[in-house]
Order: sequence, then C-alpha cells, then structure tokens
Amino acid sequence: MSLIRVKGKSPLKGAFSVPGDKSISHRAVMLGAIANGLTKVNGFATGEDCMNTVKAFQSLGVDINKLKTKLIIQGRGLHGLNKPERAIDAGNSGTTMRILLGILAGQPFQTCLTGDESLKRRPMRRVTEPLMKMGAKISGRDGANFAPLTIEGGALHPIHHISPIPSAQVKSAILLAGLYADGKTLISEPLLSRDHTERMLHFFGAELSIDEQTTAIKGRQELEGKKFNIPGDISAACFFLTAAAISPNSNIKVTGVGVNPTRTRFLNILERAGAKITLSQPKEELFEPTADVTVEGSELKPLKIGPDDIPNLLDEIPALAVAGAVIKGESIIRGAAELRVKESDRIKTLAINLTRLGADVKELKDGLLIRGGKPLKGCEVDSFGDHRIAMAMVIAGLTAEGETTILNTDCINTSFPGFIDTIEMIAPGAASWREKMDL
Ligand code: S3P
Repeated sequence: MSLIRVKGKSPLKGAFSVPGDKSISHRAVMLGAIANGLTKVNGFATGEDCMNTVKAFQSLGVDINKLKTKLIIQGRGLHGLNKPERAIDAGNSGTTMRILLGILAGQPFQTCLTGDESLKRRPMRRVTEPLMKMGAKISGRDGANFAPLTIEGGALHPIHHISPIPSAQVKSAILLAGLYADGKTLISEPLLSRDHTERMLHFFGAELSIDEQTTAIKGRQELEGKKFNIPGDISAACFFLTAAAISPNSNIKVTGVGVNPTRTRFLNILERAGAKITLSQPKEELFEPTADVTVEGSELKPLKIGPDDIPNLLDEIPALAVAGAVIKGESIIRGAAELRVKESDRIKTLAINLTRLGADVKELKDGLLIRGGKPLKGCEVDSFGDHRIAMAMVIAGLTAEGETTILNTDCINTSFPGFIDTIEMIAPGAASWREKMDL
C-alpha cells in the first residue's frame, strides 16, 4: 500500500508528454485481435487496465508482443479466438470487461469474466441486456448485472439498441457484437459519447454509418490489421492542465495529446471560465487528431457544467472539482449521476475529500455544488481505491497550504504509472511517493 505526500503552492512549469490514450489502447488490442494480419502500435498505455486487456486476449489465444510501449498483435480474424482455460480477470478495468463482452457475445464458447472488488460492484446490465437480446447467453448476479459473469455466444441477430445513457463502452460492445450478427446492428445514444471505436473500426476497413447519435454497422465485415501511433491521453494530461490553470505563475505544455472533440470538453469549460489555453502543432494521426496543449495559470470564473457536457468530460470531473474548490464563487456540476458507478462513487469521494481539505462542497444527487475560494489546507485524504480520485487529490495538494497526504495510491498504476515522476518534473520537490511499510 503506497501513499503520496504533496507540498503545496509551487508554480508548475515545463513541457512534457503523457502516456498513450487508455481508451484507444484498449481498442487497439481488441480490434487488432479480431482483425486479419498484424497490428503494430506505438505509444500503448502500459497501465494495469490496458495490460488486463492484453492478458485477456492472450488467454483467448492471441499472440501479443510488447516492448515498452510498442505492441505487435497477431490478428486471428473474427472467428479465430480460442476458449480460455481459466476465467478472464479484468482487474479494475470496466472498459476491458464491458467492451470484451461485445466480442465474446460472438464466440461459440463459454467464457467466465471476473474483476476486482470495485469492478464486481459496477453495473453490467447496460451491456449484458442488449447482448442477450442479440442472442448471447449471459449469467451473473442480479440477472447478469454483476461480475463474475459467464457468457456464451455464437451467431447473433442484429438489433437497434436505444441506450438510455451516453456510454462509449456500451456503444462499443454493441458495435463489436454487431460484427458477428447477420444484418445491420444500430446503437443510438442520447448524446454522443467518445467515438474512438467508430474511428478505429473505419480505419481497420469496416463500413459504418453515423447519423447524429445513431451508429449502424453491417455484420460479417472482416477487419484488416494496421500500424499506427496512439496519441497522448488527454484524460491523463487533464490533471496537469487543470492544476496549471488554477496555479498562479504556472505555464505547462503537454505535447502530442489526443484532441478528439468527444474528449476535450474540459478544455472548453476551463476556457469559458477564462483559462489561457493554446493548441499548437495540430496533426491528424491517421484517424485521431492530436495537438500540443499549453496552459497558463490565471484567475478563473466559477465552472458551470451541465448534463450536455457530461459525456465528453466525465473522466475529467475529479480534476475540475478541485478547480471548483480553488476558484472563488459557486461552481456547479449537474447531470453527472454516472460518476456514482465509476471506480468509486466519485460524487461522494470528491465531496468527502474536498470537505476534509476545507472546501465548502455540497453533494447533489447528480453532481456537486462547490462554493469555492476558501483556502485549501493540507490534510490526510483517501483515494478510495480510485485512480482519478488519487490524482485529483495530488493536484488539490499542489494548491493547498502545507502538506497533503493521499492514502492508498497504488491505484494510480491502473492508468498512469509515471504520474508522480511527471509531478516531480513540473513541480520539483513537491511530491513524494512512499510505500507505507517504509514509514
Ligand atoms: C470509456 C468510456 C467511459 C469512460 C471510461 C472509458 C471507454 O465510460 O468513463 O473511463 O474507453 O469507452 P462509460 O462508457 O461508462 O461512459
């Protein structure tokens, strides 16, 4: 069990890159595995979540070689996966479990899927219900809502699934299952969630049609393996960018970050609040846009985040909530009930931690009301086993007076193993990571 100690109040400076995008990394393995031929990627995210996707496909018989952040996947085609010998453990990764279910729905063998204690508490019905409608047999606690799950698939029939929530994991699972269906599968969502799966499927040669929030895919389309670079993860960059935006005299540049418009709403929110943000070196990396993002610290106006913003900034809310606590005035986050079923109940864990740090925070059913501007004071907070809460509390510590201790920080390795090294680079001496046993 490790903890992080952070000393506050130093400006953040420097130019650096962040690990490859987690969402795109998961999808690279999944699509590479069911494509024909080799898929070669650079910039793979090597955190535990994406490595759980790698291990899952290795246990399904896919040959995957990894050298640092390079990955070579020997595609087995749509029908080349093998029945795994043991249950697949997705660890803490909801993306691994939910999207993988879509692929397993098309396999004519039984697979058991499990995860850690947090993942076993996260709802799976949003994926298992439509997949069962397509013909997959799935069982698990509470009517296939909670892992461990057993799934057995085969030839599927197409459906038009109308998802009540915007969710890229649901959309991706249905689209990938759609590859195994006879006919056209459609998925509609109330607002457009991140579209990496659609972009990558198209790049791998599949035909899709996209009409506003409805995406359709024809079944039985073969995918072709590809070579590509994975852009830097904007959700990882977000912690530093947000911290710099609220820290006087800061100036940081994150290079080569993915700026897919379904992921950058937090930049728009910070800009609306008056943040100084510049995008330079724009590039289109085959199927995803990238840029260098520079942020300077300045005085910001309160943040206003509503339901329409949520699908495109859900993972960035922990960092934005910290900003809300620092910015003078009333910041509000609404329409974010999905946060309650993430790696932790993020509405609750943010409210608990920010209150401990001295902020005035009210927990709402679907968000947070933050009356910001009271100085944060260093204290002991907990990650609650949630990587994004841990990283958000580190940036809270950077803006607080005195020293903040964040307990239970091993979870950061699920997404961003080098996080503290980057903090050390942009704020030398501000943070240290210790094994609790050493103390
Ligand atoms: C993800 C989708 C989002 C996001 C998660 C990654 C993905 O989840 O919060 O971190 O890669 O598809 P939902 O689909 O539950 O919104």
